[in-house]
Amino acid sequence: MDKLALDGGDKVRPEPFPKRHLFGAQERDAVLALFERAIQTGDAIGYNGPEEQAYEAEFAAYMGGGYADMVNSGSSALYVALGALCLQPAGEVVVPPITDPGGVMPVALLNLVPVVADSLPDTFNAGPEQIEAVLTPHTRAIVVAHIAGEPADMDPVLELARSRDIPVVEDCAQAHGARYRGRLVGTLGSIAATSTMSGKHHATGPQGGVVYTQDEALYWEAKRFADRGKPFNLEIASNVRAGLNLNGNDLAAAIGRIQLSRLPAMVARRREIAGSIKAGMSGLQAVGPGRELDGVESVYWFMRFKVDASLLTVDKAGFTRALAAEGIPVNPSYRHIPAEAAWFRERRVFPGSDYPWGLPDYQGNRDAVYACPNAVEAAESHFCISIHENFTDAEVDSILEALRKVEAAYLR
Ligand SMILES: Cc1ncc(COP(=O)(O)O)c(C=O)c1O
Repeated sequence: MDKLALDGGDKVRPEPFPKRHLFGAQERDAVLALFERAIQTGDAIGYNGPEEQAYEAEFAAYMGGGYADMVNSGSSALYVALGALCLQPAGEVVVPPITDPGGVMPVALLNLVPVVADSLPDTFNAGPEQIEAVLTPHTRAIVVAHIAGEPADMDPVLELARSRDIPVVEDCAQAHGARYRGRLVGTLGSIAATSTMSGKHHATGPQGGVVYTQDEALYWEAKRFADRGKPFNLEIASNVRAGLNLNGNDLAAAIGRIQLSRLPAMVARRREIAGSIKAGMSGLQAVGPGRELDGVESVYWFMRFKVDASLLTVDKAGFTRALAAEGIPVNPSYRHIPAEAAWFRERRVFPGSDYPWGLPDYQGNRDAVYACPNAVEAAESHFCISIHENFTDAEVDSILEALRKVEAAYLR
């Protein structure tokens, strides 16, 4: 048996994995063209201008129609999407068990009480039964995130929401281009938010986000809320509601337009790579690809792998340490569980106050604690590898070889 790199053996993968090379000459040229125009005309580069409008139209076209509003981050996009729904303060909003803080904080900042649904066993996404279990007469919306680029089980969630007449907000930050039963995520709920920061599938620069909906009235409300309540599409001369300035801008949009044109190829390549890795793992016993639902086409922001430590002489941490030593860029745990975070547990949304939980109008359970056993179990039993479209067969082979080598060394 090959000696593990951890124990002084040769590394499976001595050379680093390739960088993503997300931004290239096309993005540079698009940005330079805007500067050239600004220099020649004397007009500053702005926002809501032709580039931003074109980007939004192209984004909506990718989604198969509807309306897009570019904003300055994915967190802002979720904040704006929720704000567009005009939910009354002190209502409850169901939030995902595993997600970025920016996928939950906007709920609390709108003075709505986040109520956490557990995940579907063996996955990072909230399950329909787990969502149903936390619905109350105070539920005003459900936020569903498609974590890792894997669509959540949306049909039963949409059915639940319809039966209660509450909207579903899709958080597609990690899942642009993913499909659930043939339909693009983001088109399933009432309104969707996505992040376009530079780690995501397509980026509008270092930071960015988009709000998307097929409902024109929601779109205009989102646009107003994202820009200080300006009376877009209204015959009113003054600002109609309080809001921040969360606008996108033309420079970012110029980058986003190039990136968006590459999205279909990025998504296709990620699927191909993930498919090869999954196929190559069929002979392994203690480690397997994460459970995916039938009928989904994921876009793999990262790939999940499940470890059955009962078959090994080490725990998951030991397994991933050995994988990393072989030269594989592994994330031992994606344990982003908002209910475990200090801001959530200690209720620091508006420091010095326990709002939104303490709002006099809040009629739900102020003391609710969310243990999320399925999410904790999923986080503890899985590790992740961030694959990207610039991987070649050599990277796929390195991952598979390292998985086989480490498993063979530790199998009971
Ligand atoms: C699921 C999810 N929601 C929201 C966000 C927040 O997006 P941003 O970082 O662009 O604010 C992220 C960012 O990673 C995310 O992964």
